[in-house]
Amino acid sequence: MKKILSTREMLKKAQKEGYAVPAFNIHNLETLQVVVETANELKSPVILAGTPSTTEYAGGDYLVSMAKVASEKYDIPIAIHLDHFEDVEKIKGYVREGFNSTMIDASHEAYEDNIRIVSEVVEYAHKFDATVEAELGRLGGQEDDLVVDEKDAMYTNPDQARDFVEKTGIDSLAVAIGTAHGLYKGKAKLDFDRLKEIRAKVDVPLVLHGASDVPDELVKKAIELGICKVNIATDLKIPFSDAVKRYFNDNPNANDPRKYMTPGKEAMKEIVKHKILLCGSNGKA
Ligand code: 13P
Repeated sequence: MKKILSTREMLKKAQKEGYAVPAFNIHNLETLQVVVETANELKSPVILAGTPSTTEYAGGDYLVSMAKVASEKYDIPIAIHLDHFEDVEKIKGYVREGFNSTMIDASHEAYEDNIRIVSEVVEYAHKFDATVEAELGRLGGQEDDLVVDEKDAMYTNPDQARDFVEKTGIDSLAVAIGTAHGLYKGKAKLDFDRLKEIRAKVDVPLVLHGASDVPDELVKKAIELGICKVNIATDLKIPFSDAVKRYFNDNPNANDPRKYMTPGKEAMKEIVKHKILLCGSNGKA
């Protein structure tokens, strides 16, 4: 049986060749299907990301099984990743269940505590050949049940980033350079000088969270400057649900999920395509 992959080789290749692997937040069979089918059509490596409430909603075991089916079916690199997990014991459980890539988000902790918590996850995950992403600095906005007020958001300090990577042994670093989770109140502004400095000081792949609602040219520039993984959630959810809403408006008596889910999947597919092309990961499988 073909294995679902960790993000290690995938992101290293992206770093070397100057593109990014998209990490799409999926929630159920339908959203997972759209992502893997589209990635396969464009021959793109892809990361399936699940937040804590997604694993609770869909079941970690179901998600791993669906990712395994996709890996068997398609000849592209597919990884399954825990996104924004804060609970170390839960991470350990899901890693044992087959998630071979995880984020431990201890960015809200004091610096030394962030290092301690992340190091514990790295030590555990590496025994299972699973990769670990951690965040330094703090993104504003809402992801899952996690809400960070703008005033509590904090940019990544490049010198601290180097120290953090050395001390924790993480495989990739999520940077805070101005993006936020969800939709922006004004226009997204990214601190590219800071990103350049982090890239110069840190050798692991860099991750951009909160990439929805950020103009394409800014995401492109971030990738040129060294971002190797781009996380996308909100930009997929909105067209999916809008299309389903439209379907019910037009067909108020509809009740067949196979019918009303289909326009949602089609709308989401267009965005997945667009994001893969934006990341430049097409043809890189
Ligand atoms: P968006 O919802 O802004 O796309 O953020 C997704 C994300 O960063 C998931 O970790």
